[in-house]
Amino acid sequence: MSGAAPVVVVTGASRGIGRAVAQALAREGAWVWAIARDERALAEVVTAIRDEGGRADLMVYDLSNTGEASRVVEEIVGRAGLIDGLVNNAGTTRRGTLTTITPDDYEAVMGVNVKGLLFFTQAVVASMAAGGAIVNLASLNAFDVLKGAGLYAASKAAVVQLTRAMAIDFADRAVRVNAVAPGFIQTDFNAALWARQELSAWVTENTPLGRLGQPDDVVGVIRFLLGADSRFITGAVHVVDGGFLPARMWPL
Ligand SMILES: NC(=O)c1ccc[n+]([C@@H]2O[C@H](COP(=O)([O-])OP(=O)(O)OC[C@H]3O[C@@H](n4cnc5c(N)ncnc54)[C@H](OP(=O)(O)O)[C@@H]3O)[C@@H](O)[C@H]2O)c1
Repeated sequence: MSGAAPVVVVTGASRGIGRAVAQALAREGAWVWAIARDERALAEVVTAIRDEGGRADLMVYDLSNTGEASRVVEEIVGRAGLIDGLVNNAGTTRRGTLTTITPDDYEAVMGVNVKGLLFFTQAVVASMAAGGAIVNLASLNAFDVLKGAGLYAASKAAVVQLTRAMAIDFADRAVRVNAVAPGFIQTDFNAALWARQELSAWVTENTPLGRLGQPDDVVGVIRFLLGADSRFITGAVHVVDGGFLPARMWPL
């Protein structure tokens, strides 16, 4: 991040990982622009940040509405100046096997996770300060496909390749792009799973660090990837999963 009060845009900041990231960055002095669809929830996040003495504003925006991306960015830049950081955190899913998912499911998931991310980023990068950094939220599902999450997995695999391609395409603007791939993090996103005791027990048993992740567990690596300490890292994917992916725990 460049200046004394770097401007950082966080999508999906109304709850979960995005909210934790927005609050943490604001505590460190960033001017956070919180984006999501739910104005009331965003206003709560902005109020929480301001109550702590931080600086934050909100923009209500549905990322699947790609035609509006430039207008949203222009409004932010008009009020805050060039953008130093972007956290493409907003994401959604629809459950179902590839035998049952519908074109509507496809539009819902790809329209936000892939198309929305790509064209919002394209709009932001045109107004980004040199030395800016972008962090995309991928997923463990980009590498492992959980049954019933095939569409989501494909969208997150696309996020990984978009990250690598953006790293190449934005390098001449001195903008770095990396991805973070969280494992099982306890948020509203997957609350229905954790309500099933046997599933949370299975994840806990198969995670070497022995617990589900929390939104704050993902914050540190995002902060690192936005900051100067990662200045020679671009096009990389950082897994945050308590060791789930490499472990393949055996029932021995
Ligand atoms: N939780 C996990 O275990 C996990 C694991 C791997 C990867 N991830 C990824 O991490 C990111 C955050 O996950 P989370 O668990 O924090 O999810 P979450 O609690 O469901 O929050 C998702 C956020 O995205 C926003 N969002 C969804 N659709 C949107 C749209 N069309 N336009 C704008 N904003 C939209 C939501 O706000 P509104 O509803 O107000 O729009 C919300 O702020 C996602 O990309 C997810 O795929 C999560």
